[in-house]
Amino acid sequence: MKIFRNLPLPIVLFLVAVVTITGCGKKEGQGGSSSGSDGKKKIFVMVPKGVHPYYEPCYEGFKDAAAKYGVEAEYKAAKAFEVPQQVEVIENVIARHVDGIAISALDDQGLVPVIDEATRAGIKVITFDAPAPSSKALTYIGTMNEAAGYSGAAELIKLMNNEGEVAVLQGGLGAPNLNDRFKGFERCLKEKAPKIKIVAREDEQGKMDLTVNKTEALLQAHPGLKAIFGVSAEVCPGASAALKQQGRGGKIILAGFDDLPDTLAGIRSGVVSFCIAQRTYKMGWLSVEKLLDATQGKSLPKEIDTGVVIINKDNVDTYMQDMKKEFGK
Ligand code: BGC
Repeated sequence: MKIFRNLPLPIVLFLVAVVTITGCGKKEGQGGSSSGSDGKKKIFVMVPKGVHPYYEPCYEGFKDAAAKYGVEAEYKAAKAFEVPQQVEVIENVIARHVDGIAISALDDQGLVPVIDEATRAGIKVITFDAPAPSSKALTYIGTMNEAAGYSGAAELIKLMNNEGEVAVLQGGLGAPNLNDRFKGFERCLKEKAPKIKIVAREDEQGKMDLTVNKTEALLQAHPGLKAIFGVSAEVCPGASAALKQQGRGGKIILAGFDDLPDTLAGIRSGVVSFCIAQRTYKMGWLSVEKLLDATQGKSLPKEIDTGVVIINKDNVDTYMQDMKKEFGK
């Protein structure tokens, strides 16, 4: 494919990393204390939406907390962001009678039956990163997405001088976390900058190559486009690759969620204006702590806000140290 031949090295490396962990199943956790009544270590499994580098720091936090509390941590990811695949992964985990599952939900209704099934089997289920509000999941740990989408739009309005065309790219149209972000984003524009028009909202299914293609198509379809906003992690890396290929890096405003390495590189070079970093490590860490609480009969709050940080040129090189400080890292 032409696109791949022309991709810059960082993007190629990103894609290689994605392929390398495809269908990934990891197992970790050598700590020492949280065993069940039979004396065996508890097993907690993280199930992301699918294979994606966004989840690496989430699992790092999960693994580190598991090691601290003496729990066995596992990671089971479907290859693609597809609801039947995520359901299958969860069903396989249920069949193994694990103690807890932390899910980043690809869909709300689509996961209700399988979360019911896990609950009936006595397995504690929570969601992290992306909630499934209609399900029996005991809590949601992550970003308050509507508010985060709203603050992303508020930041963008300043850069767009209150007017012009913006296109939104989103990795899957079914997940409540992304739809909430879009809702907040749209509401903020309506309230604060009605002269900014959302001219497109495209689904790139959480895929980097599709993001590149969709960006190229957007640039063609909307010659007057002033800005692109990404509600998912692959948007800034994918869109910046496409913009650079066309010599339009820094000329179209690009911003969006998450702090993947290529997004941070884009902020440093000026192709990306800002990103909204979610506190992924914390989501993973708290997932273990809350699953432990649940297995010990403690009740959990309905949701736990992990917070976001807006990253631009001023704090791109310092924010990570600040975020990790609270975990003594
Ligand atoms: C979202 C995740 C999603 C990831 C990759 C992040 O912004 O929080 O739910 O899986 O982007 O698309």
